[in-house]
Amino acid sequence: VPEVYVNLDENSYKIKLEQRGLNELGSYMRDLKLGCNALVITNPVIKQCYGDIVQASLVTAGFTAWVEEIPAGEETKSFAWAMQLYERAIRLGMDRKSPIIALGGGVVGDLAGFIAATYMRGIPFIQVPTTLLAQVDSSVGGKVAVNHPLGKNMIGAFYQPKLVLIDPDTLNTLPDREWLSGFAEVIKYGVIQDTDFFDLLAGENLTNLRTDLPKMTQIIQRACEIKARVVSADEKETGLRIILNYGHTIGHALESATDYKRYTHGEAIAIGMVGAARLANLIGWLPDGECQKIAAVIAGYGLPIRFSSIDQAVIEERLYHDKKKEGTSIRWVLPRAIGGVDTTTDIPVELIRQVLVELSS
Ligand SMILES: NC(=O)c1ccc[n+]([C@@H]2O[C@H](COP(=O)([O-])OP(=O)(O)OC[C@H]3O[C@@H](n4cnc5c(N)ncnc54)[C@H](O)[C@@H]3O)[C@@H](O)[C@H]2O)c1
Ligand SMILES: [Zn+2]
Repeated sequence: VPEVYVNLDENSYKIKLEQRGLNELGSYMRDLKLGCNALVITNPVIKQCYGDIVQASLVTAGFTAWVEEIPAGEETKSFAWAMQLYERAIRLGMDRKSPIIALGGGVVGDLAGFIAATYMRGIPFIQVPTTLLAQVDSSVGGKVAVNHPLGKNMIGAFYQPKLVLIDPDTLNTLPDREWLSGFAEVIKYGVIQDTDFFDLLAGENLTNLRTDLPKMTQIIQRACEIKARVVSADEKETGLRIILNYGHTIGHALESATDYKRYTHGEAIAIGMVGAARLANLIGWLPDGECQKIAAVIAGYGLPIRFSSIDQAVIEERLYHDKKKEGTSIRWVLPRAIGGVDTTTDIPVELIRQVLVELSS
């Protein structure tokens, strides 16, 4: 079974990638010496597809498996739902050794992880991501959170799982738009760290990859390796980890300016990556050809590279409210070449405006 090791001293863990791996969840967890009272957090759609497999696997391995559903959707990543789940955990007699398993996308993962991080000051946490975005991004790295009415992911922690189990077969039921959303993050890894990976992606297309899960498994593994390396070097986001934010500065502004309704996260950062590449191009970091190549590959996967009908002033206002800004200036993550990024706060506002105008034309 392919594995990626996330090296974080005493918080280290493995990411296992395995088709039909859901069936093995119980036996992998048994090796971790956890309590036997296990709580699976999921949503109705995912439970319908994979709940029985996961439950059977846990029961066979000797766990008592409780399955708790939360509604699908970003609104569920809330304190109100956290409270419901704490209550459930207490009533089930979960103790400090009882594991929580997140079976789902980033919403389930972030919320379940937040519960695991805080219930009794932290109990074992297992990630079983079922969206491409969760498999390549949110399940790796230990950021857990709930939203506050005043801002997304405002309340949270760094809390590493004991195991991440990725079963690429779960992607078979994933809707088209969620595939695309995850692919934006996959392409991001190529641009920020790995020219060969970018070229590999440039030579593929979504239609073929969707039916070639062995190849997808390799792609997910490569993405996890890159994220794991960055996270190992900077667990708490005080340095290198900022490079994962490539495309997210403009991306977050677009999501916020459209009330998180128009774009999936991946669609917004796809446009953001094109914008950041162009900024890099305008300041002389990124050659024309590579700038165009980034946009072409993103567009080739069917992701948007432009936006329309959003007021420039609103986007600018959201840009300067991005929580990753430093003081008043934005720390931009910009490519020097495909496969390597750098950061700068030294970008004239006129250039930002020019790029926003280009992106909306
Ligand atoms: N913790 C982190 O580091 C991190 C990183 C990136 C994003 N996030 C968070 O992740 C969340 C977004 O995650 P997401 O994109 O996975 O969205 P999501 O969790 O909302 O899932 C998207 C949709 O896909 C459905 N779904 C999930 N798996 C499925 C499957 N296998 N088959 C069919 N349908 C399935 C879900 O029911 C949902 O409707 C956001 O809240 C974001 O803040 C966290
Ligand atoms: Zn992202």
